[in-house]
Amino acid sequence: MKTTRLPYLLLTIFGIVGVALLSYFFILETEDLSEGTKGENEQIELSKYPGVDIITNTMEEETYHKAIHYPKFEGEQLNHEINEYLESSQQSFREELAKKDKQRLKMRPANFYITFDIYPVEEQLYSIVFSEESYFGGANSLQSTRIFLADVSKDQSIKQTDIINDTKETREKLYALLLNAFKEHETYSDYLFEEDLKSWIDRKDNTFSNMYLTNKAMVFKFDKYEVTAGVAGMPEIELPYDQVREILSTEWVERLEIKGSVGNAEIDQPKEEVTEKETDNKGPAKVEGTTGKRVALTFDDGPHPENTVKIVDLLERYDAKATFFMLGSRVDFYPNIVKKMAEAGHELGNHTWNHKDLTLLSSDQIELEVKDTNRIIQEATGQIPSVFRPPYGATNKSVESVIGIPSVLWTIDTLDWKSHDPNQVLKIVQDNVKDGSIILMHDIHGSTVEAVELVLKYLQKEGYQCVTVSEVL
Ligand code: NI
Repeated sequence: MKTTRLPYLLLTIFGIVGVALLSYFFILETEDLSEGTKGENEQIELSKYPGVDIITNTMEEETYHKAIHYPKFEGEQLNHEINEYLESSQQSFREELAKKDKQRLKMRPANFYITFDIYPVEEQLYSIVFSEESYFGGANSLQSTRIFLADVSKDQSIKQTDIINDTKETREKLYALLLNAFKEHETYSDYLFEEDLKSWIDRKDNTFSNMYLTNKAMVFKFDKYEVTAGVAGMPEIELPYDQVREILSTEWVERLEIKGSVGNAEIDQPKEEVTEKETDNKGPAKVEGTTGKRVALTFDDGPHPENTVKIVDLLERYDAKATFFMLGSRVDFYPNIVKKMAEAGHELGNHTWNHKDLTLLSSDQIELEVKDTNRIIQEATGQIPSVFRPPYGATNKSVESVIGIPSVLWTIDTLDWKSHDPNQVLKIVQDNVKDGSIILMHDIHGSTVEAVELVLKYLQKEGYQCVTVSEVL
């Protein structure tokens, strides 16, 4: 008879968890409503990491476009620290913006992005690596990074100097390790300035704030020009845990010990089951022979946990296919959404890892942006993206030579991100659409979901078939 109790127990547990989750969502919803000013849009999403939500805060003004992604924890202290950082970054951006010419900015608005990568180290311990970019047109793109080692169980961030036992000997040891890793690095070896690395390690005020942990290594992320030539961008050097034992504080030798042994396993390698699948999902033959008019709907900057899902549903309802140009940093959070998108037969496009202007990067950096994004999409779906779209449409010969897959722009810009007005988007489509049009929208905006429905209805009525961008090319 004992066996019958288990289901009841489980039901009770599910019940309790369910109620807890519901009230949690409710709290999120109400919080969401109370915040946000005009022109500003804030959304809260659950991530695949327990205890971490993702906030996306976007704002479109006449002179600038802001998009900030950041994690929100359950504890107040961690959130407070992160908010302080976000506030001061935005303050610097606004100060810089105030120095620029208003009229020029109205023609080409400035951009401010903050995005982050999250690395689980152990249960309740994450490295949060923020990348920040301000872009004011021309060649001025300011990039920086900020690292938080978030101990969720204690609701506090850990200082790098708690992890590294900072003495003269350990600094020497660390220098030797970094020097060696740079020299052996495929990309960075040619660009290292040894003297700069030396003066970095010798700096009295060096708190190793550029260091973060992953599940297998200690990583040092340097600023552009800090220890390498500019073409190397912001180099990251990984030191596996079994190498760094001697420089760790006693507490952390123990804490990271387990990792050392797991360290070399290929946990992070993408699964290699990809190539066969990739070919059979291309170019449905059914379109051939039809003489009807075709358009390609394309969606940039996603995936988004709600809006992308809604758009995929709408597309199915109208028997339409589309192309999604996605950011690797977002695919990382929502692999399941991308998987469903691929299974529904939509085309997968690469839109770089975190939306940098590629014309400002070295070819190694461009390659990394493209490769990492291909890899994460491949991990999620088993397919390699078939098309690429450069952020801001900014491209040149050296960008093109690195990408390796066709680069696709658009013929109709709906300006959905600017108007947030579904009827305005529809009107732009009505005024411009013709056979072979490539329509640009952004699946991160709620207003775009409404626009998609209007556009699909209109296109159907006018006898257009919505196909992937590769099919209209
Ligand atoms: Ni974009």
